[in-house]
Amino acid sequence: MNHLDLAVLGGGNMGRALIGGLLRQGLRPERLAVGERDEAARAALERDFGVAATADNAAAVRTAKVIVVAVKPQHMNEVLRPLAEPFARTRPLLLSVAAGVRVAALQHWCGAEVPVVRAMPNRPALLGAGVTGLYVPEGIAAAHAQLAEQVLRSVGEVVRVDSEAALDLVTALSGSGPAYFFLLAELMADAGTALGLSAPAARALSVATLHGAGELARSGTGELAQLRAEVTSKGGTTEAALRTFAAAGLDQIVARAVAAAAQRSRELADQYGAA
Ligand SMILES: NC(=O)c1ccc[n+]([C@@H]2O[C@H](COP(=O)([O-])OP(=O)(O)OC[C@H]3O[C@@H](n4cnc5c(N)ncnc54)[C@H](OP(=O)(O)O)[C@@H]3O)[C@@H](O)[C@H]2O)c1
Repeated sequence: MNHLDLAVLGGGNMGRALIGGLLRQGLRPERLAVGERDEAARAALERDFGVAATADNAAAVRTAKVIVVAVKPQHMNEVLRPLAEPFARTRPLLLSVAAGVRVAALQHWCGAEVPVVRAMPNRPALLGAGVTGLYVPEGIAAAHAQLAEQVLRSVGEVVRVDSEAALDLVTALSGSGPAYFFLLAELMADAGTALGLSAPAARALSVATLHGAGELARSGTGELAQLRAEVTSKGGTTEAALRTFAAAGLDQIVARAVAAAAQRSRELADQYGAA
């Protein structure tokens, strides 16, 4: 990939995360062009990453073989339509990270002959610790799929899904998921405080536990249920807490919450994805 020209359209949170990741992976800054309409954001991109940032998206994509589009879903249309003509000549790979904007809409705007893949990263990508769901439609060349994976791996793990509809589930699980863990950590800290810990101590314990549990879950090859069993002694403290969760129907609550997020993702896709 390091010998290819890449362009990123939209140098906001996710665009910056990907630019930083790509440079960390060894991509030379002169290989990367950024299209960004906000002047202050362009100055920050040039200062922080040494990449060329322009307000002229057509100039940014001129020689690019891979184009990452990282503008808000409602801006995809206005970004892509004017590029249909140059794309018809250069046929770059288009990698969209926009939530809910479907392949059909993207191709409607940028041309049916342009190879398009869609991805759903999550917020920890900003620290290189993300996970991204990647959907590669049928007919996309294996080399293009690999390029998309390489780009996304620069900000964390990549999980391929085999249908576009599954991206709504990715959104519900890993896209919104950090907030679920933050909520649990917040509630645990609140409970600790209510029981007598100082607020800073409860927060520190809660956050470090979130981090450590994540590291453990990631490092092991075991099942999550197995990890849980390993820290749950019979008749012990953890078992007392887990029994309380079970009695309150936590499994059903989580299932309903994830289903609600998936439903909302589909609704937003209907709203933003319309060609
Ligand atoms: N942030 C996340 O955690 C996350 C996670 C998963 C997926 N995503 C997806 O990533 C995409 C970007 O999200 P974000 O959070 O990075 O948004 P963001 O911080 O608002 O960044 C988007 C940038 O694109 C610029 N822009 C808008 N229209 C443009 C145009 N016509 N030409 C060039 N630049 C333009 C925006 O400028 P203005 O500020 O002037 O509009 C802004 O600087 C979204 O589609 C989102 O669904 C984000």
